Amino acid sequence: MAEISPSILAADFANLGDHVRQAEDGGARMLHVDIMDGHFVPNISIGVPVVQSLSDATSLPLDCHLMITDPGAYIEAFVNAGASMLTVHQEACPHLGREIGLIRQMGASPGVAVNPGTPLTSISEVLEDVDIVLVMSVHPGFGGQDFIPSSIRKVRELARLRRQRNLAFKIQIDGGVNARNAQQIGAAGCDILVAGSSVFGKDDIAGAVKTLTQMANEPLPRYA
Ligand code: DX5
Ligand code: ZN
Repeated sequence: MAEISPSILAADFANLGDHVRQAEDGGARMLHVDIMDGHFVPNISIGVPVVQSLSDATSLPLDCHLMITDPGAYIEAFVNAGASMLTVHQEACPHLGREIGLIRQMGASPGVAVNPGTPLTSISEVLEDVDIVLVMSVHPGFGGQDFIPSSIRKVRELARLRRQRNLAFKIQIDGGVNARNAQQIGAAGCDILVAGSSVFGKDDIAGAVKTLTQMANEPLPRYA
């Protein structure tokens, strides 16, 4: 079953605890936490203290997306603060296996992310070692951008590779997910749809999580 990982980047940070509870009420089973450093991406968001506060405030697993230069230097701190899933970018890791190994060694689930311009061949060698492959469907750095349609092709290709190589990683997509495209994304084989504006940008946060979950699990109509 496809799941929604609500991205708190679009939440009201002054009411974060309340927004997280509303997402939880809607059936969210994890939370997406975007960490940006102003170097790897042209924006700064939040860091270790907020992950720590969130882990004290919710029992939902924290799905932390590191959009930072030299992510290896911060893995220990984020896992100690409560991150249970930690995704690093292929583009930020010249020795990708090291970061993935360290995340696993620390007891968290490792993920690898690829930007829209990065081919899947660049992560072919680590697919055995990760629990999550994150397909960026926008250029990372900001919420509220338009979904890049060619990302669907990457999801399908990952689903094919997973079958072919008998692997178990989850396929995650991030950026521009909404109630209009969730069905197509789910049908392509995506397991986790990250959604920021289309959850926390809505008045009814719980209702938005419910609708997106439903759409992501709705089979596409078959035409004769
Ligand atoms: C973008 C972040 C996303 C962002 C998605 O760089 O990685 O997780 O929060 O936001 P929406 O869903 O608004 O595109
Ligand atoms: Zn993200």
